[in-house]
Amino acid sequence: MCGIVGYIGNKKAVPVLINGLLSLEYRGYDSAGIAVLNQSNNEYDLKVVKDKGRVKNLEANPELDTLLGTTGIAHTRWATHGMPSKENSHPHLDNSKKFAVVHNGIIENYVELRKILQDNGYTLYSETDTEVIPNLIHMNYNGNILEAVSKTMKLLKGSYAIEVISPLFPDKIIVAKKDSPLVVGIGKNENYVASDIPAVLAHTNNFYFLDEQEIAVVEKDSIKFYDINLKEVKKDIKNIEWDAESSEKNGFEDYMLKEIYEQPQAIRETIGSRLSLDEKVNLELGNIDFTKFDKIYIVACGTAMHAGIAAKYSLEKFCKIPTEVDMASEFRYRNPLVNEHTLCIFISQSGETADTIAALRLAKEAGATTISVVNVIGSSITRLSDYTIYTHAGPEIAVASTKAYTCQVTLLNILAIYIAEALGYNSEELNKFKVDLLELPDKVKDVLETMEQVKDFAEKVYTQKDLYFIGRGLDYAVSMEGSLKLKEISYIHSEAYAAGELKHGPIALIEKGTTVIGVATSPITTEKTLSNLEESITRGANVLVVTNQNIKNGKIDLMIHIPGTNPYLSPVLSVIPLQLFAYYIAKNKKLDVDKPRNLAKSVTVE
Ligand code: M6R
Repeated sequence: MCGIVGYIGNKKAVPVLINGLLSLEYRGYDSAGIAVLNQSNNEYDLKVVKDKGRVKNLEANPELDTLLGTTGIAHTRWATHGMPSKENSHPHLDNSKKFAVVHNGIIENYVELRKILQDNGYTLYSETDTEVIPNLIHMNYNGNILEAVSKTMKLLKGSYAIEVISPLFPDKIIVAKKDSPLVVGIGKNENYVASDIPAVLAHTNNFYFLDEQEIAVVEKDSIKFYDINLKEVKKDIKNIEWDAESSEKNGFEDYMLKEIYEQPQAIRETIGSRLSLDEKVNLELGNIDFTKFDKIYIVACGTAMHAGIAAKYSLEKFCKIPTEVDMASEFRYRNPLVNEHTLCIFISQSGETADTIAALRLAKEAGATTISVVNVIGSSITRLSDYTIYTHAGPEIAVASTKAYTCQVTLLNILAIYIAEALGYNSEELNKFKVDLLELPDKVKDVLETMEQVKDFAEKVYTQKDLYFIGRGLDYAVSMEGSLKLKEISYIHSEAYAAGELKHGPIALIEKGTTVIGVATSPITTEKTLSNLEESITRGANVLVVTNQNIKNGKIDLMIHIPGTNPYLSPVLSVIPLQLFAYYIAKNKKLDVDKPRNLAKSVTVE
C-alpha cells in the first residue's frame, strides 16, 4: 500500500521525509518520490525527485541535494494504475507545474476525469489515476486553494488521502482524505502529515486524525480543519504511545491480524468502479469472444486455489460453462484437455508462484485464452498472461494469506458477472448479485465483531492434536481454506471434509474431545450438515458452527452468527471466523503467526 509523509517547519524537509518513508517500507512499495518548495530570496520553486525502486535509491540520487526547502511532501507507491516507472511515481504535478500532489487510494472515475481534463486542454503524462488530482486542482483554482480542493474532492469517486503543496501558498500543506487514512502530527514550530503514525512517531506522539471528507491546512505553527463544504471543524488531540514494533503494524500485534482487519477496505477497493447497479461490469479484458469457450479451467495453488474452488460455483451458474479447478502442480503434469476453446483463469497473490507460471505457459502453448487474477502489479504472471485483472488487496506481508483470498473470491465473482453479461445473460438474479456484492465490505466489518467469541473458543481447544472442518458445497470450499490456515500457522493436524463424506470413513477419527468445525451457510444443505455434526456430537466432539442460518440446536458448543448474503458470496464472510480461529490458536501456542516454520510468502520453486 502507498505511504505518505509531509513536513513543514524550520528544518530541511528532505531528511525528515526520507526517514518517514523508510519507516513505512515494511508496507511494501515499488517507487518513491519527494517534492519540496525551494526558496531563493522571496521566490519559491517546486522541485520534484522521484523514480521507481527503493527509498535508498532515492536517497542516493544526487538531485536530492538540490532540495533545500523546509516544506515538502513524500510518497512510496504500490502500483495500482500503471507499471512502476518514473512517470507513474508520485508526486504528480499539474500542467502548469504549480501544484504537487501525492495520493493514496484509488480514484475510481479517473477515466471520466481524464476525459474532462483532456477536453479542457490538459495533457496527462502518466498512466495513473492520481495525475487527474493536481490538474483538477489547477482547473478549479481561482486564488483560493481551499475552494479548489473542496471542488476537486466533490468530483472524485473512490478513496484518497492527498497532500498538496505549491509556490502559490508556500507556508501551507493542504491535506484531505476519504476512505484512506491520514494523520497530522503536532510538533513545536513544525508539523507533520502521514498516512501512518510510524512515519512520524520519531518526532511526535500527538496527533489529529482526519475524518471522512475533511481537509486540513497545515502550517508550521497552526493546523486548521474543514469539512468538504469548508465549514471549520474542531478536533481533539490524540496521544499515541506506541513502541516502534507495534507502530509498524498500525497497533496490531501481527501483520496477519492487521491484514484480517484490512479486509473491508481491501474488498471495497477490489470492487472499486468495476461494479455499479445500472451498468455492465467494467473489467480491463479487451474484446474476448466468450462464446468460443466450452470449458473453463481455474488453476492456482494453496489459498488462491481455494478461492478458485469458491468461484467455480458462480461461474457455472451464471455463465453456464463447465468449470474445473486444478492445483497448478497437478495441472502441469496431467495433460489437461486444453485448446483454443478453453478459458484458463490463473489466480495468484504474488504473481510469482513457480507452479502457476508453469501451468500458465502450458495453457498458452495449447492455445487457451488466459486471464490472471493477481495482486502484485507487474509480476511475472501478469506479464505472461493474455489478460490480467488485479485484486487491490494491498501488500500482504503475513505468510498466511487472508485479505488476498477474500479479494480473489470477490473479483472472481465480478468476473463471473462480466462473462455472463458478455454472453448476453442478463437476469434479475444477476442484478441482485451485484447488490449483494456491493454490500459485502460492510458485512465483512460486521463479521469481524465475532472476534471475541472466536478467541474464547480458541483458548479452549488450542491444545488439540487434530481438528476437522466440515461443510457442503461452498461451505466445503471454505472449510478447506480454514483447515489450511490452521495447519500453516498453528502446526495442528487438520482436515477438511465434505460433510456428507464423514460417514464414509473419517468419522472413525472422531472421539471424545475432538473438535469439529462446521460451516453451514447454505439454506439447501444446512440441515444435512447439521445431521453430520450431530453424528460427531454423539461421538463426543466439541463443535463450533459458523452460520447465517437460524439453527436451533442446544448441543453445539459455540455458534458464530454471520450476516446473510448471496450464497455465492458466503465464503467471503464465513472464512473470517476461521482466519481468526487459526490466528488465536497460534497465539495461544505462542507461535510466530506471520512467519510460520518451513513456509515462504512467495513459492518460486517447484
Ligand atoms: O502467491 P500465490 O497466491 O500464488 O501463492 C499461492 C500459495 O503459495 C499461497 O496461497 C499459500 O498457500 C499461502 N501461504 C496460504 O496462506
